[in-house]
Amino acid sequence: MSLLITNIGELTTHDPELGTLHDAAIVVGDTVRWAGPAAKAPDADRVIDARGAAVIPGFVDSHAHLVFAGDRAPEFAARMAGEPYTGGGIRTTMAATRAASDETLRANVERLVQESLRQGTTTMEIKSGYGLNVPDEARSLRIAAEFTTETTYLGAHVTPPGIEPDDYVRLVTGEMLDHCAAHAKWVDVFCERGAFDVDQARAVLTAGIARGLQPRIHANQLTEGGGIRLAVELGCASADHCTHLSASDVDALAGSDTVATLLPGAEFSTRSPYPDARTLLDAGATVALATDCNPGSSYTSSMSFCLALAVREMRMTPAEALWAATAGGARALRRPDIGHLGVGARADLVILDAPSAVHLAYRPGVPLAHTVLHKGVPQ
Ligand code: NIG
Ligand code: FE
Repeated sequence: MSLLITNIGELTTHDPELGTLHDAAIVVGDTVRWAGPAAKAPDADRVIDARGAAVIPGFVDSHAHLVFAGDRAPEFAARMAGEPYTGGGIRTTMAATRAASDETLRANVERLVQESLRQGTTTMEIKSGYGLNVPDEARSLRIAAEFTTETTYLGAHVTPPGIEPDDYVRLVTGEMLDHCAAHAKWVDVFCERGAFDVDQARAVLTAGIARGLQPRIHANQLTEGGGIRLAVELGCASADHCTHLSASDVDALAGSDTVATLLPGAEFSTRSPYPDARTLLDAGATVALATDCNPGSSYTSSMSFCLALAVREMRMTPAEALWAATAGGARALRRPDIGHLGVGARADLVILDAPSAVHLAYRPGVPLAHTVLHKGVPQ
């Protein structure tokens, strides 16, 4: 089966040769077969008339914590009344997650994945991290793997009650890893004051690497610590949050292959200063945008909301923000097959209810995903 989408007003491909096309068309199977001027489009089995709308690659949400139960609306309300965010609520969600059935957890992930897909997100990374014991971390990852190949072992989210931090790190790098490694592609750690320090984070990531997992890290969300330099030292695919950066952190990221993944939904929902995207971009770092969807610090599944925040609050141009939310996320997941619409890419795309992709930031909060194709299939 082939599908021709024609009469595209603006086609953002993020392909170095194709660039952004106007009056364009694209032909897809489960991958992109052809893209170019509408007048030269080859025939296909089925045709969609985009009526002058813009088409973009599907969003790649490279950072999400979807396996959890319950929510923390009262904590959010308290924060908006002046309480600080400390990450302490992670233990509240841990208790609700441990108490939930597999069916409840699975239904929650399904709900959030569908909510994301409707808004144009065609790839999601999903982390564990609310089980914080061997059986609940392992089942979190088994459930995550039902929805994505981008599964991340985040046993080292925080130390749960009743165990000393160093003992917990031994568990995370030992028995827990034994039960989780088979279900995960990535290993992650929350490197932060109050969570895990740089030495503990190094132990967690190197243990994961030794078991074939690829490293990524939560770094410098609440304070400026050594997490960014550790990310670069270990060749992490991505350092996520990057809210508090020193000049040497920026240089380290710019001189490395580690993507700086910015999560402005977290700054919005914790009323914190936004990360300095402009300095990172001007220094030459690769920047991605993701939702950080989780019940505590950022309960949004909307990539277009994050993109709008990045444009308005972080001085990214609309084009930079769109790249970061698609191709940037793909880099952060080391996935050359997504985030762009070059020939051979996975046919993940969004026909917008708008004539240009600028509208994603220009019309914040408006649901602009008209038709979403995942692997070439309209959803
Ligand atoms: O990425 N920072 C650590 N983890 C999550 C928040 C988790 C929570 O508050 O439940 C984050 O923001
Ligand atoms: Fe996170």
